Amino acid sequence: MESFNKVGMTAKFVAYWRQYTDIPFAKDVAEYIGASEAIETFLGNNQITPDDISWYAPLFEIRYKSILEAIRRKGIKQVLELASGLSFRGLNMTRNPHISYVETDLEELTNEKAVLVSRLTQKYSLADYGNFRLTPADALDRNQLLSAIRHFHSDQPAAVISEGLFPYLTIHEMETVVMNIRDILTKFGGAWITPDFLLKGDSTRTFFQRRRAGEAIAKLTERQLHRTMFESEQQLFSFFDDFGLRAEVLNQADLVPVIVSIGVLKLPADIVEKAKQKLNLWVLTPAAK
Ligand SMILES: C[S@@+](CC[C@H](N)C(=O)[O-])C[C@H]1O[C@@H](n2cnc3c(N)ncnc32)[C@H](O)[C@@H]1O
Repeated sequence: MESFNKVGMTAKFVAYWRQYTDIPFAKDVAEYIGASEAIETFLGNNQITPDDISWYAPLFEIRYKSILEAIRRKGIKQVLELASGLSFRGLNMTRNPHISYVETDLEELTNEKAVLVSRLTQKYSLADYGNFRLTPADALDRNQLLSAIRHFHSDQPAAVISEGLFPYLTIHEMETVVMNIRDILTKFGGAWITPDFLLKGDSTRTFFQRRRAGEAIAKLTERQLHRTMFESEQQLFSFFDDFGLRAEVLNQADLVPVIVSIGVLKLPADIVEKAKQKLNLWVLTPAAK
């Protein structure tokens, strides 16, 4: 598990960039975990300044918001998030008492997150409708995942979310997680919503500093990012097909009209337009038998 726990630090990295957005709780969380100090030191040690890679903020903002919008459009009311890190979409969405949301991650990170949830709950006097759960679960462990959602209604569809997990996995680990998700969807129906697959040629790490940031994260996590890239959309569709999943592709940018961090960080207005083509959001559903 040690090798996965190192990936936990990347959750801080995402939390750092989210403080420049209007995503609920993001500023508090960045402050609580001391994200600025930790990440700016990490970047400095790798000869990178935050300005070099500030385009991460809109990319993470659009990713988070597009998933939120996709869940809303699907009308699904019970959600399991894998590897939710220091993202609090579940805590936010469960302000609606009709939504049931389970955020999972590895145990160490989940314990840290529980402290943050209780601080946020106190600060904002959040009502407890019993519909938000934070549960440790390794995405590779089917039983842990099933146990985390044992209270879900089996006659209602479920959404499974993964945001920023698959880039860290080997192909074998990917297959295990996909089988786990497929089993959950077979039981409940619903959809797996994920931006996690990068096609060859879609990498945004073309510039020196971007590559350098990727290399620094790989060194930190001891995991090579995106080592498993699919040659084409066709190859990815056929990978999903092998697991009995039918893929639909949405574009994240089409789902998110307002991106606050562009203004906050004074980034070029066309930054998303330029990256748009690569901002896929995959929606997977069990193929009809
Ligand atoms: C890049 S972070 C993304 C976190 C979050 N989804 C977000 O967007 O802010 C990757 C997360 O994957 C988690 N992780 C890595 N391996 C995992 C595994 N086998 N099971 C569950 N979570 C895992 C890490 O702990 C970390 O929180």
